This record gives sequence, structure tokens and C-alpha cells, in this order.
Amino acid sequence: MFWFSWYSLSLFTPIVFTTPSSVSLLSLGIIDDGDDESFLASVLVENSSLGFSRNIFISLTCRFVSNISSSSIVFPLSICVYNLLIRFKISLWGGVLVALDIRGFRFSLDGITIRRCSIEDIGGVISVNRRTLPENYSTSLFLAMLRRFGDIFFVAVDISQDSIIGYCMNKLEYNTKSFFAAKKVTKGHVFSIGVLHEYRRRGIASALMVVSLKHMFMLGASEIFLEVRVSNIPAQNLYNKFGFEVVMRVPRYYADGEDAYVMAVPRERIESLIDELYLRLRELGVLEE
Ligand code: ACO
Ligand code: ZN
Repeated sequence: MFWFSWYSLSLFTPIVFTTPSSVSLLSLGIIDDGDDESFLASVLVENSSLGFSRNIFISLTCRFVSNISSSSIVFPLSICVYNLLIRFKISLWGGVLVALDIRGFRFSLDGITIRRCSIEDIGGVISVNRRTLPENYSTSLFLAMLRRFGDIFFVAVDISQDSIIGYCMNKLEYNTKSFFAAKKVTKGHVFSIGVLHEYRRRGIASALMVVSLKHMFMLGASEIFLEVRVSNIPAQNLYNKFGFEVVMRVPRYYADGEDAYVMAVPRERIESLIDELYLRLRELGVLEE
């Protein structure tokens, strides 16, 4: 009983004070296996902007703290530290501290422009797709995506060669179950992204993501998701930089039997970062409008 009241208080207080508007506390419980050294507390918080990460963090903190001490001071302190991190847009995803910060993005985009894909670009997009990914869709799929979601289909062009060197093809999915809250939402789906090998690590994929997310938000997406091979660490790093977190693992998602992670991010978490980066790209003269 003592444990219950003390820990409920220490969990509940910082949550209510840091995010007063968007949190609803669904359930709060302590699972005590009878051993003070190894209890596990779990908090289920329905919160559109924090979602799973906070839940997992709190569980892990409880385990960690219970291992070093059953003292009741360390635990609430660590929760408060976590809330401070959130204030400063630093979060814990996949066990790594990730700072959602414009300073983490370096662009080296001289001679590159980003613009909407046009029908004449489809051949170039297909060629980049063939050279960068094992998922090679049919020409008619690319054309159908262009017809239906041309507003959110972007290409990166090497101006001197006048050739497509990267693309990001997206779609919107309406009235689908949210990854972060118990409701139906419009989701933006990053369907396929690729950048030619010679052009990598210059921020081109990041720029394509910024432009894609910006326009999907403008068209009403309240969260963005994608699938990525569990072995594709470069792409997962890219998505982590944008605050995506793994929300699901789909066994044998790919034709060769590999599993996929579904990664997603709620709009609230990254909208201001996307706006800042979009402005930066405009200043750099990368966006053709
Ligand atoms: N190793 C580790 N991290 C990487 C790597 C790498 N080789 N490449 C990119 N990243 C991460 C880094 O965090 C990087 O930031 P940093 O350079 O500051 O460290 C961040 O991604 C952004 O890098 P960009 O320069 O913006 O990305 P780039 O233009 O190089 O393109 C991409 C990245 C698209 C993943 C490219 O490597 C590629 O085309 N790969 C093959 C195709 C692919 O895997 N596409 C994604 C499939 S999933 C889907 O389409 C939904
Ligand atoms: Zn997909």
C-alpha cells in the first residue's frame, strides 16, 4: 500500500504538470512481485505526442532504479529529469538519446534542387529506385502514385547533369487507426525513398523528408509512418533524426522474408523542426517553387 501511494504520486505529478492539455491517464499501476529490489511499474498514458516512448522509459526507469536502490528519492528524480529532457525536445527512442534539433542537420546541397516529380521524371525515378532498393515497383505503380499523390512526390535533381539522383514518394491514408492514440487519423506514408550512392551523406534524403513531411502536414496528416528493413541501419538512423520510433515489427514483410519495422512519428513532435528545416532549405535556394 505504501508503495502504491508513493509511486502513484511520483509518477502522476510530473506527467500532469508537464503536459496538462494532452494527457489522459488511462491506468496507473504497480506490479510488485513481492521483492522490493525488482518491482516493475507501468504507466499507460494516452498521449498523442509522447506515446510509447514515455511509457517504455518509465518502465525501464523503474527497473533500473529498483536495481540500484529501493530508496524513494532517486525514482521521482529520474522522472523529473526525463520531463526536463522532453521540455528541451530530447527524447529516448530505441534506447538512444536523440536530440530533435536543427543543429543535427548539415546540408551540402550545392548544385542540387528539390522539386515535385513530373511525368517526364518518372523514368529517372524508376532508375534510381532500381539502383538503390530491392523493392522495384512497376511503372504503373509509379504512374498511379504520381497521378493520385503528385503533390507529395518529390525528386532531387543534379542541376549540372539535369538528372534525377533521389526521390521520395509518399501517400496519404485517411481515417486509419492512430499509432499514438485511440482514434482515427490521416496518416502520411513515406512509401519509398532513395538517393544514388554517389550523392549520399550530403543531406539529400533529409531534404526530401523535410519537403515531404511539410507538404503531408499541409494536407492534413497528423502522423507519419513508414516500413523499413530491420537490417537497414542507415535508413533507420535517418528516421531517428526526425523523431520516428519503432511502433511495430512485421514478420516477413519483404519478399525475401526479412522483417520490417514500422516506424512512426506524431506531427506535434516534429512540426516545428520541419518548419525550421524547410525555411533553411528555402534560404539555401534548394527548393524550386
Ligand atoms: N550509415 C549510418 N547512418 C546513415 C548512413 C549510413 N551509411 N546514411 C545516412 N545515415 C543517417 C545518418 O544519421 C545521417 O545523418 P549524418 O550524415 O548527419 O550522420 C542521416 O541518415 C541523414 O543522411 P542524409 O545525407 O540525409 O541521407 P542520404 O542522402 O545519404 O540518404 C538513404 C539516406 C536514403 C537511406 C540512402 O542511404 C539510400 O538511398 N539507401 C538505399 C535505399 C534505402 O534504404 N531507402 C530507404 C528504405 S525504407 C523506405 O523507403 C520507407
Ligand atoms: Zn510502406
